[in-house]
Amino acid sequence: MFANRVLSGMRPTGALHLGHYHGVLKNWVRLQHEFECLFFVADWHALTTHYDDPSHIEQHVWDMVIDWLAAGVDPAQATLFIQSRVPEHAELHLLLSMITPLGWLERVPTYKDQQEKLAEKDLATYGFLGYPLLQSADILIYRANRVPVGEDQVPHVEITREIARRFNHVFGREPGFEEKAEAAVKKLGSRRAKVYRQHRKNYMERGDAEALAAARALLNETQNLTMGDRERLFGYIEGGGKVILTEPQALLTEASKMPGLDGQKMSKSYNNTISLREDADSVAKKIKTMPTDPARVKRTDPGDPEKCPVWQLHLVYSDDEKKQWVQQGCRSAGIGCLECKQPVIDAIIAEQQPMRERAQRYLDDPTLVKNIVADGCEKARKMAQETLRDVREVMGLGYS
Ligand code: TRP
Ligand code: SF4
Repeated sequence: MFANRVLSGMRPTGALHLGHYHGVLKNWVRLQHEFECLFFVADWHALTTHYDDPSHIEQHVWDMVIDWLAAGVDPAQATLFIQSRVPEHAELHLLLSMITPLGWLERVPTYKDQQEKLAEKDLATYGFLGYPLLQSADILIYRANRVPVGEDQVPHVEITREIARRFNHVFGREPGFEEKAEAAVKKLGSRRAKVYRQHRKNYMERGDAEALAAARALLNETQNLTMGDRERLFGYIEGGGKVILTEPQALLTEASKMPGLDGQKMSKSYNNTISLREDADSVAKKIKTMPTDPARVKRTDPGDPEKCPVWQLHLVYSDDEKKQWVQQGCRSAGIGCLECKQPVIDAIIAEQQPMRERAQRYLDDPTLVKNIVADGCEKARKMAQETLRDVREVMGLGYS
């Protein structure tokens, strides 16, 4: 239960592009081999900003899941699901809303930022204010402790930690907690109990994060503990009550440096993208028509790669030797721009080839995708229901 569990979500924006691949999906593919991973489509989050135009959501969801699979996200390694198909997220969101101060939500930077950025939309809604809390529910319901996100999402993980802490503080105080925790410590056996007490003391007196980690590791190694005692002992390290909800950590994904066709960051809103499964002819055409250093009017005019967006792509796709060739050939007018672009075209097409192939299976037989997602939803629901059972109980809604 306290093993590493990774969770991340993406709003269904439709077909993804190479920026998503280099920025997010490659990372997911790597993580799925290292940790238990859950990846989901945040369709309710899409509605918080696009409630007035829901007609594309469903198509966007399927296109995006196919892109995940095309990129190498493996349903045998990771659980893939759709947020709204796991309605437990909504119940937890509601229950968490009871203890969430309005000020916390109003202070999340994305709240005002997005309202200003999307000024044409009316985002003075209850749903939009609750965006980060819904995200907290997404994370907490799986007791995920690692959340891979970009910089802009870090405040959302931060508020999730605060919510978890507040929840555990308010609802984790069972009567006689201290006594029960002390009894549980004794059950560790005298050697482990002593080590546990020492770590706990170091953490409580000096906030020593290593002591906290060591105490947690000790509990993880200890096998003959009941679930209740284990939770108690986790909570007791920090002095508080039972840990019902796990505080997650952001796994900061390095900002994607993937440049678009114009040298700016690749982004749908700049209209400078190459989609993940774009066909080869179209890729070639887009690169061939890319702007280059304006100084190279004639083939014989020397240029400067630093002033050319094609060079940015060489930085992503070319080895040192090739980069040397570009630098030298450009500055001496030894190569032409089309010649310079060809290796980039080849590299992108080669990178995409396995993705196009993997996607084809799913395009030919969409029920494959539906089944993967149905399986994922079922697995996710089981996990979500477990957490929710504990949450309901401590909130006085156990009705057993
Ligand atoms: N808000 C995230 C984004 O825009 C998507 C998201 C929703 C998410 N719920 C999440 C990401 C939970 C990580 C964990 O990118
Ligand atoms: Fe850009 Fe290459 Fe042309 Fe130089 S030779 S301007 S780097 S495309």
